Amino acid sequence: MSNVLSVGVIGAGGIARSHMNAIEANDNIQMVAVMDVDADRAGAAAERFDATVYTSLEPLLDDARVEAVHVCTPHYLHADQVVAAAEAGKHVLVEKPMALTLADCDRMIDACDCAGKILMVGQVMRYYPVSRTIRKMIADGEIGQVGHLIRRRYSFFNPTPGGNDSRHWYLDLEMGGICVLYCFGPHEYDILHWYLNSPVTQVYAQGSASTDLYRGQKDSYTAMMTHENGAVSVLSQTVVCHTSAHDQYIIGSKGSMMLAGGNLTLNGEEVSVEGATRDGMSNQIREFATCCLEGSEPDASGHSVRHSMAVIEAAKISAERNAPVLMSEFDRD
Ligand SMILES: NC(=O)c1ccc[n+]([C@@H]2O[C@H](COP(=O)([O-])OP(=O)(O)OC[C@H]3O[C@@H](n4cnc5c(N)ncnc54)[C@H](O)[C@@H]3O)[C@@H](O)[C@H]2O)c1
Repeated sequence: MSNVLSVGVIGAGGIARSHMNAIEANDNIQMVAVMDVDADRAGAAAERFDATVYTSLEPLLDDARVEAVHVCTPHYLHADQVVAAAEAGKHVLVEKPMALTLADCDRMIDACDCAGKILMVGQVMRYYPVSRTIRKMIADGEIGQVGHLIRRRYSFFNPTPGGNDSRHWYLDLEMGGICVLYCFGPHEYDILHWYLNSPVTQVYAQGSASTDLYRGQKDSYTAMMTHENGAVSVLSQTVVCHTSAHDQYIIGSKGSMMLAGGNLTLNGEEVSVEGATRDGMSNQIREFATCCLEGSEPDASGHSVRHSMAVIEAAKISAERNAPVLMSEFDRD
């Protein structure tokens, strides 16, 4: 068996470049093919790696050299492309969001399980050294029993600046989903239960359309979640705030942690973290290759990330109903 995984990248846009850089930085993975409906983009990416270019999915999936694919396309395409890849016998790393509906997530999980293939989701924040440090400190009881976890993610995200239309799909509800929930939310909702290693049991959320950038979609959400271990998480997000914030407080029975600007403090004292946030993508891709080569389950497996997608769906429904939603509504039969 080879100790280098040969992959094809599907979609050669913005995030695909980060995947390709990380592939180049790791010695257990190589890119042998790239596919994009935009031939110029696929060609430019392929040239750098001496990879084969495809402009449709079937020939890439028929390429016997391709053992695994990275799905880096607009959100509405993820589910069908992942299912097709699994049915063609390929392992899959799909970018976040796993899919736009929980029903699609289940389809993807079933297709990969049925084919005996790895399904991993690009939850890159799980692979940041600082995230791992925080999770371990909580598990080791450094702040005791966590009572409250509060995160903010505020930014101004205009996917089509200056009228550049190539990423218009981010603004389209059918193609991208509610942006604040399905573009940035997958990172945020995922990290909360992952830090605590405790699933969410109830969600209450409210959303609003503060501007018309997202064509009437809600562009800001705040959700309050109860975890199985009794902790409460609060997540406040917007994609239309002109002043950015990305920070968190975790308050426990014996101490508290704060993360702001990538700097972690414990009870006010700085915590030194080995490795940088920019290593996250490379760490993620190395784990994907290792799991495919060894047949082991990645941390951010489809099964694990399904819960994050269920919490997002619950937040959306809670805001629509103006009522708390129990996560048991989303259990699989
Ligand atoms: N992990 C992160 O931090 C992060 C950051 C940015 C984007 N993303 C995710 O990556 C994915 C892609 O986002 P992006 O910003 O790179 O988008 P993008 O618009 O820059 O790139 C998407 C690419 O997909 C191609 N494409 C469209 N239809 C296709 C099809 N049917 N088959 C193959 N290719 C097709 C487009 O031509 C384009 O090159 C999304 O899921 C997004 O949420 C993740």
